[in-house]
Amino acid sequence: MKFFADTADVSELRELKDLGLLDGVTTNPSLIAKSGRKFTEVIAEICSFVEGPVSAEVAALDFDGMMKEANVLRKIAKNVTVKVPLTLEGLKACRVLSGEGTMVNVTLCFSPNQALLAAKAGATFISPFVGRLDDIHQDGMELIAEIRQIYDNYDYDTNILVASVRTANHIKEAALIGADYATAPAAVLKSLVKHPLTDKGIEQFLADWKKTGQTIA
Ligand code: G3P
Repeated sequence: MKFFADTADVSELRELKDLGLLDGVTTNPSLIAKSGRKFTEVIAEICSFVEGPVSAEVAALDFDGMMKEANVLRKIAKNVTVKVPLTLEGLKACRVLSGEGTMVNVTLCFSPNQALLAAKAGATFISPFVGRLDDIHQDGMELIAEIRQIYDNYDYDTNILVASVRTANHIKEAALIGADYATAPAAVLKSLVKHPLTDKGIEQFLADWKKTGQTIA
């Protein structure tokens, strides 16, 4: 399973890269607003040190507007993935951009039928938002399992990129289902290493090691 970081914070991204936890990046208008930086500049900086796909989202809602913005974004770097919303206009843009060899991430997916349409439009990634479904008391992971089955039934190449990930458990569930990618905040990715018995074990080993009076040299 590959991990994307869902952030436009360059220092977080550099840290994740050094930890080997960064296969790519996703951003959205909310994350760009949070960064307080100029959209095209922050995407260019991210692409200067991240080799994997870097999602940059269009703001227009009509096909022509999306294509115009996509042309600006995809010129920034080869690994820019144009992110479009799951609407008819977004799917139309997805089909054209994919046909031209640009990676496309279709975002704001909340149903299996939406995911089916994105695959038919040639999306590179489909982004189902599990956390926001959980927020309204629907099972986000059930959606991932259903999309996995549909894509496998028809051998679609579109990658399932689990988004709106809030917890380590979301990542475990997504991996068990066989999702291709998960995108999550840096804190969630780093939390995967945590287990209380690991911490307790380290503490105990260190205490016992001290008793030996030895050093490793
Ligand atoms: O990848 C989409 C993500 O940024 C949305 O997450 O937590 O705002 O639902 P959240």
